[in-house]
Amino acid sequence: MQLNDLNAAENTENIDKEAWECLENSILYYQGRPVGTLAAYDPSVEALNYDQCFIRDFVSSALIFLVKGRTNIVKNFLEETLKLQPKKRALDAYKPGKGLIPASFKVVNINGEEHLEADFGEHAIARVTPVDSCLWWLILLRAYVVSTNDYSLAKQPDFQIGIRLIMEICLANRFDMYPTLLVPDGACMIDRRMGIYGHPLEIQVLFFGALRAARELLICKGNEDIVEAMDNRLPLLCGHLRQHYWIDISRLNAIYRFKSEEYGKAAVNLFNIYVDSLPYYELDKWLPRKGGYLAGNVGPSQLDTRFFALGNLMAIISDLSTEEQSQAIMTLIEERWDDLVGDMPMKICFPALENEEYRVVTGCDPKNIPWSYHNAGSWPVLMWMLAAAAVKTNRIGMARKALEIAKSRLSEDEWPEYYDGKKGRLIGKQARKYQTWTITGYLLAKEIINKPDLLPLVSFNEFPTESVSRACEFEVGGLESYMSL
Ligand code: GLC
Repeated sequence: MQLNDLNAAENTENIDKEAWECLENSILYYQGRPVGTLAAYDPSVEALNYDQCFIRDFVSSALIFLVKGRTNIVKNFLEETLKLQPKKRALDAYKPGKGLIPASFKVVNINGEEHLEADFGEHAIARVTPVDSCLWWLILLRAYVVSTNDYSLAKQPDFQIGIRLIMEICLANRFDMYPTLLVPDGACMIDRRMGIYGHPLEIQVLFFGALRAARELLICKGNEDIVEAMDNRLPLLCGHLRQHYWIDISRLNAIYRFKSEEYGKAAVNLFNIYVDSLPYYELDKWLPRKGGYLAGNVGPSQLDTRFFALGNLMAIISDLSTEEQSQAIMTLIEERWDDLVGDMPMKICFPALENEEYRVVTGCDPKNIPWSYHNAGSWPVLMWMLAAAAVKTNRIGMARKALEIAKSRLSEDEWPEYYDGKKGRLIGKQARKYQTWTITGYLLAKEIINKPDLLPLVSFNEFPTESVSRACEFEVGGLESYMSL
């Protein structure tokens, strides 16, 4: 080995060591047992709720713990969060509904005794609803089972009830007639008003993963009705997303020439999208010849053409997108690397909402100014998803390149929560330092790149295309078939 290589290897070793130390520091203990990790451990700023364990944030920590065989903390987390899930219908409309999993929790001391206190959004800024928590919880429970090869936890009666309750809220009777889930703004990683109410991609992709996880894990007798509902919903959801969310140049062209105001069953422009609502000239320039992606949101006269990283990457990982679509998403990231990865992997969404649109859609949120935070800021946690998607599509070189970029800055910048600017060169205006999922995003990406056989922790087998194409056939007939339950 040359001297330069030796120095580089030593440098990497130091960064990894520091990352692990920070991760250890963030572990949350409850009655002497490790049960989660704090969102951030940055003593220099007011904690707000960053001293809590967030369900979505802990998933990245949990996966790296599973990879390292530290399964106990993950098991404790799953058991404790399950206890926080309301098992009865709420009598008070301000109380969390039956089956919900909180956004976060913390340890409180009452009369010298430790308790866990959950936040279902009732304390959170803007009182946002954490729809993604229960979906991530199921995905993590399955990862635990895959990693330990131990079904006994998931088979326990309290876990079977917990899984069923989550499925019950997801598959409940509702007003909506799409196979997707209708949610308010800020119901996921983007937990502030960002114009993602309706049927945002992130929630739909996690819903698909959660349905597939629950389908594997709900094995007790007496659940036949809910299993049937899951079997009905899965292909419709998958077909709907693959078909109606997909954007590439030929799809854009079809939309560009759509007729509008079509009534009845023969409608082609099902959602009555008006082309003038789309930035079609920009997209015509931006879309590579072979690339494509899943849109941010689809609803009545609404097609949000922003690229959202989590939804697109998790769609690849969970086998929601077809093989062709997955390759096209990766091609898009490769060809638009400067926009989507730039100097820090990777943009949470692209492009930013600017000017009047920013003011109207975010409600003038100073934290979400253009090219900052949720409004097209860069989030290192997304790196592990980029790595997993790259492994899944056999494009590992892209993940290596992204990791090198991140490695050169993260430790020096003290592991910020997010970065700002068009290329992600500025440390986020209000970013916490020592943000746990930044640290685990880096560690996990590295593990996945070096050991591609870890992919099954979060990935699923191919979804049978036969059932999907049947779902698409139904769809042409109208919306009735969406009423799966
Ligand atoms: C911010 C993020 C959210 C995250 C939380 C804790 O609110 O938007 O996704 O869970 O911080 O890190």
